[in-house]
Amino acid sequence: PSASITIDSNAAVAEIDRRIFGAFVEHLGRCVYDGIYEPGHEQADENGFRRDVTALVKELGATTIRYPGGNFVSGYRWEDGVGPRDKRPVRRDLAWHSLENNQVGLNEFATWLKEVDSELMLAVNLGTRGILEALDLLEYTNHPSGTALSDLRAKHGYPEPWGVKMWCLGNEMDGPWQTGYMTADDYGKLAARTGQAMKAAEKDLELVICGSSGSAMPTFGEWERTVLEHAYEHVDYISCHAYYQERGGDLDSYLASAADMRYFIETVVATADHVKHRRKSDKTIMLSFDEWNIWYLDEHHESDEVNDEWRIAPRQLEDVYSVADAVVFGSLLMTLLENHDRVRSASLAQLVNVIAPIMTEPGGAAWRQTTFFPFSVTSRLACGRVLRPQVTTASVTSKVHGENAVVDCVATAGDENAAVFLFNRGREAVDVTIDVASLGRERIDEAVTLWDEDVYAKNTKDDPERVGLKPLDATLAEGRLTVRLEPVSWSALNLA
Ligand code: AHR
Repeated sequence: PSASITIDSNAAVAEIDRRIFGAFVEHLGRCVYDGIYEPGHEQADENGFRRDVTALVKELGATTIRYPGGNFVSGYRWEDGVGPRDKRPVRRDLAWHSLENNQVGLNEFATWLKEVDSELMLAVNLGTRGILEALDLLEYTNHPSGTALSDLRAKHGYPEPWGVKMWCLGNEMDGPWQTGYMTADDYGKLAARTGQAMKAAEKDLELVICGSSGSAMPTFGEWERTVLEHAYEHVDYISCHAYYQERGGDLDSYLASAADMRYFIETVVATADHVKHRRKSDKTIMLSFDEWNIWYLDEHHESDEVNDEWRIAPRQLEDVYSVADAVVFGSLLMTLLENHDRVRSASLAQLVNVIAPIMTEPGGAAWRQTTFFPFSVTSRLACGRVLRPQVTTASVTSKVHGENAVVDCVATAGDENAAVFLFNRGREAVDVTIDVASLGRERIDEAVTLWDEDVYAKNTKDDPERVGLKPLDATLAEGRLTVRLEPVSWSALNLA
């Protein structure tokens, strides 16, 4: 099979906002404790954070990191995680049925983020708490000095405010599993009042209202409409969360997962714009896709320590990803870029150990999962503007997602380079010719692909480098790029 693609440098979707390469750290399983933070480890820095993990997070290129949850935030008291460590309480975390000893809190995490050069995005608890606690956290985090809570921060050893701009108004409040879940009406009213109050304190905040926890939620669409009817003028983003997995051995449907992500984005955009026009508002609400990933949610893993005991940092949600998972993951990231005019922020959920691109063993090594590669390459190469190419190709049919193009493509163009990202969801190799003349680039600087004869090959503790990037077969002459895409593969080219 073959495909032909034209990339027009004028067909720009949007300027890249680096927040599209965000990630997410939740106090869940071994994400924080025995993940990024392990004071006894030989690689630990003076603050107890693992240097080898920090290096991998930097290599991953995660920009804005959402914290501290997730479901966890709906039971969290931020005050527990600040001040002298020996005075911090141990509490039950009902979301993940584990113990939280609060050895890492806002200040430790924000300090670590400076080290990895990432922006902090905070979530407030609107499950079991409300407006006052959100305002207190905002004052503690951002107010310069001279108030009770900013002075308390200084007393805790952090005189400088953290300057956090982006805030999530709760988490997945539509989900019956959420501590303190609500109806759309109740949540919409609470989000409006919390947003109004937070912006009265700081008018430049960027606030994210909870959208649906997934496109399969029974309230999907109606939830977005209702919460935005209540809170439209007080918020800037609406969240989207989506996780994908292969089900029942149906690889073709799995490889077409991006179709659901597109449907999700289109539906939320249409709903938000419907509310905008009804309210005759000048403001356009953007999407914060602040949880996306592959997650084998239906499966019980042998390693899952979800139990009757209350433990600190149990092994939970430690999915080990295959090549197939990584190429689908790559296609999801391409879909976020393709819709970057409205999806202005996104968070890969999560970062370390918990459905994560980076794995660690306590006292042992840290390594890259297969999904690490498409994320790190895309974050490194994408620059300037996103371009949506014209793709002419055959289609493949899958049970769940119907007909989809065999090849997906998205490109970016900056002053120094242009990057092309390609996904072959078909079971055969595809020869692709791409007209890149309008990009004015002369040579291929880098060409890599992720594929394997065994689509289920994985990186594991015992074989951490089984899967990696391979050279991509590609040539560039007279504005024409010729590429051979292996079956079930994700690829990237950097043109200089
Ligand atoms: O990322 C894991 C969990 O998925 C988050 O805590 C929650 O928000 C979502 O359901």
